[in-house]
Amino acid sequence: MTPILAQEPVTLPSGRTFDLYRSRWDGVLDHEEFEYCRQHGIPIAYDCAQIGWVTQTFRDESIELPSYPVPTNRAAASMTMDLESRAIELRHQLAKEAGKLQIEVSQHRLSLDLALERLEFVAATAMKQLAKAFSLADCDLCHWGLKSAIAEFLGAVRGPLQLRPNGSDSKAFEFRPWAPDDAEIYTELLGNERVWQYLPEPFPSEFTTETARTLIEVGAFSFHHEAVAIDVERRNIGQNLLRFDGPSDGVRRPIGQCLLRFDRPLAGVRASEVAYWLGEEHWGQGWMSRVLPEFTYRSFRRHSIDVIYAWIMEDNKASIRVAERAGYRREPCALETHIAESLRRPGFVRYATYRVDWMLDAAEES
Ligand SMILES: CC(C)(COP(=O)(O)OP(=O)(O)OC[C@H]1O[C@@H](n2cnc3c(N)ncnc32)[C@H](O)[C@@H]1OP(=O)(O)O)[C@@H](O)C(=O)NCCC(=O)NCCS
Repeated sequence: MTPILAQEPVTLPSGRTFDLYRSRWDGVLDHEEFEYCRQHGIPIAYDCAQIGWVTQTFRDESIELPSYPVPTNRAAASMTMDLESRAIELRHQLAKEAGKLQIEVSQHRLSLDLALERLEFVAATAMKQLAKAFSLADCDLCHWGLKSAIAEFLGAVRGPLQLRPNGSDSKAFEFRPWAPDDAEIYTELLGNERVWQYLPEPFPSEFTTETARTLIEVGAFSFHHEAVAIDVERRNIGQNLLRFDGPSDGVRRPIGQCLLRFDRPLAGVRASEVAYWLGEEHWGQGWMSRVLPEFTYRSFRRHSIDVIYAWIMEDNKASIRVAERAGYRREPCALETHIAESLRRPGFVRYATYRVDWMLDAAEES
């Protein structure tokens, strides 16, 4: 039976209020809100875009929400303008400093390590200044502007990393949108507590095909994220039917998901978060080591984004290895722990890769 939900905000055990009808973009449910929903039978849905749970009663984004929050009054508008101009200014200052250091490094008056240390210090100082006036989420957006200037500096001094996926891997799988007909296989893949162990959100105690259908539906909102199934051709070798080699019987089947969530651009720089998972039966067979480089390459080519990052739990060794093999590097930042907590990712660290380091030749576009 569908519960009757309070129209007024409810009070949580900690004393905080909780609006069951809040906007979806006010953020995903934290642990206390999630528990409240579970105990009171309040229907929830997994929001693939924000990578977290929301109530199914969130207000309709098409009526109230543009692709990212816009200021609703003059004070907020001037704050946003202020953030934009501050971010441009800081990025400009850092790029200027990088230009000077580039000359010193090229003339062997300064080592690359010391130059980098100096730039990281400038970036960290800028972040701390920003934190006095703006939210941590705003500081985080600004962080990508600063770090992409450092990535450009590195590209100019030591050359870009020239990352690209191994072309032959791309034939082993395809990315495609999830379809309502996938609900059953989606349930088989994601309805498993162990898959959620390293994801930022708790496992929903009951994961039915109905849950899967809702997740597929919510994931299909497409203006600010892209969620794709990793579709693999079945091959007739040995016990394991989902292999890279051997003759194919032409049957395809999803084994997991990759998701790209677009951040709001700031100072001309746009970052995107990548998140990925596989059904447990497909772990440890080298799939994600092949899939993530392809997905990253595809994402840079299809979207005008400057940096892609992943939040990974510190002890998720397999995911860290996958990210590193795909060219992602550990991406510390001055306020990382605070940012991680404010985004409900305590214990997670970040790995990132920059557009400048990828070989995205136009010749291959066709
Ligand atoms: C994390 C995950 C995507 C890895 O994908 P995968 O296809 O199983 O990984 P691969 O087989 O390509 O292995 C990648 C590397 O991790 C290593 N690895 C795999 N499992 C491991 C484990 N449990 N502990 C340590 N290393 C491990 C592999 O040996 C390999 O290292 P190598 O490159 O040195 O040989 C998959 O395990 C998964 O979906 N887990 C649950 C969801 C999740 O954690 N998602 C990521 C959230 S950030």
